[in-house]
Amino acid sequence: MNFDLKTLGLPEAAAEKCDLLVLLVPDGFKPGTDVLSAVVAQALKNADLSTKVGQNLSLYQVPGVAARRVALLGVGAGDARGVRLGVQAAAGLLRAVSVKRAVLCFASPASADAVAAAVQGVAQASYVYTTTKSKAEARTLSRVIIGVADTAAVTQAFEHSVAVTVGVEFAREWGNRPANYATPTLLADAAKGLAQHTGIQCKVMGPTDVAKLGMGAFMAVAQGTQEPLRFIELRYTGAAKTQAPIVLVGKGITFDSGGISLKPGAEMDEMKFDMCGAASVLGVFRALAELQPTINVVGLIPACENMPDGRALKPGDVVTSMSGQTIEILNTDAEGRLVLCDALTYAARFKPAAVVDIATLTGACVIALGGVRSGLFATDDALAQALLAAGESAQDLCWRLPLDDDYAEGLKTNFADVANVGGRPAGSITAAKFLQRFVGEFPWAHLDIAGTAWKGGAAKGATGRPVGLLVHYLLQASARAEADTPPPKAPTAKTAAKNPVAKSAVAREPRATPAAPGK
Ligand code: BES
Ligand code: MN
Ligand code: ZN
Repeated sequence: MNFDLKTLGLPEAAAEKCDLLVLLVPDGFKPGTDVLSAVVAQALKNADLSTKVGQNLSLYQVPGVAARRVALLGVGAGDARGVRLGVQAAAGLLRAVSVKRAVLCFASPASADAVAAAVQGVAQASYVYTTTKSKAEARTLSRVIIGVADTAAVTQAFEHSVAVTVGVEFAREWGNRPANYATPTLLADAAKGLAQHTGIQCKVMGPTDVAKLGMGAFMAVAQGTQEPLRFIELRYTGAAKTQAPIVLVGKGITFDSGGISLKPGAEMDEMKFDMCGAASVLGVFRALAELQPTINVVGLIPACENMPDGRALKPGDVVTSMSGQTIEILNTDAEGRLVLCDALTYAARFKPAAVVDIATLTGACVIALGGVRSGLFATDDALAQALLAAGESAQDLCWRLPLDDDYAEGLKTNFADVANVGGRPAGSITAAKFLQRFVGEFPWAHLDIAGTAWKGGAAKGATGRPVGLLVHYLLQASARAEADTPPPKAPTAKTAAKNPVAKSAVAREPRATPAAPGK
């Protein structure tokens, strides 16, 4: 889909030829003397429209308005949250088969985050999953103009958010694919595909390499399946090689049956989403390809299935992790932490500035925070603050939970250095405490996205979260690093030849319509 940002007052919006014009009307809307202002003012006066979030009024062929359809949409305070929820409520309008070209126009001045929320909302509403359908109904909406009174203040946020939509869709796509269309091998192929973009490299390891590294915990999870494991290592190099990277680690369980500690049958299909952490890492790299920021990022994905068979891991088995710590497996369904612990040990070799892991780790997190906020754990306050703030500005929220050592009590065992489960109380925290044992000398954060990565029920599907949060965080980190480094000396002929294109926060390559994810 193509997004454009345009300076549009209400008189100009009325002249935009399109299939659908959505007017975002916030509280305290001040009408001008134009036709759209008059319609909105009348509708508000007669209480046919309210500025409450998601309230809308549809109109057809309004005299003096070039758009065929017009929708007046309440967006509450007009902030990012109001716009996100408002556009979400109007998703049906944006999905109409007759709507190919749409204009979303802010009726009052808009903040940068509100513009980003509009872009995210439209992309989210219009995404269609097609991969495993025989009769694919493609997305009809192909061109969207976001109209604001003043483009200058919001251009950067707009460009960033368009890149985020590309990453979010990539993550949704891989999240949604069933386990037989998203095996560890196919995930690795998707990662290799990303390496076609400037600045991205990919290395994939299989069972033999992983055994050489001594990743005994990761290997243990994969031993009950026919599907070979993959350890994916992505690198984005946008800054000097000497700059410490931020490492993202994504849980890539392509199907979680629970293993010998088999899950109940109801909704077990949803465990195809257990690689959404991995998908979010892929999505972030897809967005980095668009944005080309001045930063170094490493993505690590331990990918495998968790299945029961004659060779599968058994409760009571003890395995040796890459760190040397031995782990007693009390529940084979607590497999996420087993694949992550070895990836966290591996992460230390990059001497990272920070490590953030992303995982659909615990059902307990769904109970604690539901689908609104992801669980956040961090050993470093500055890192926690940065992630919380990124979540706010991306409207991809998280909430910090504690890491008191007392929570680790339940992980003690007589038969190994640590057990892989504590009791039922505070299950998300004990999982995080387990992971913390494998964290080296770097600031670390853990995002439990079990409740936020996908939706169940009629709207079943991956959300692409927390790609927005992570991209915002990385862009902030890149801006901070740029502010901290002294400006480079004027390039000499030699360095200019070595580095022919200047790095900037804006896409270097012309931004084409994103290729279908997975291609
Ligand atoms: N992938 C699940 C976590 C999960 C469960 C996410 C339900 C979303 C919805 C994870 O591997 C798991 O099974 N965790 C167990 C841990 C328990 C055995 C300590 C859980 O949460 O029940
Ligand atoms: Mn599990
Ligand atoms: Zn799992």
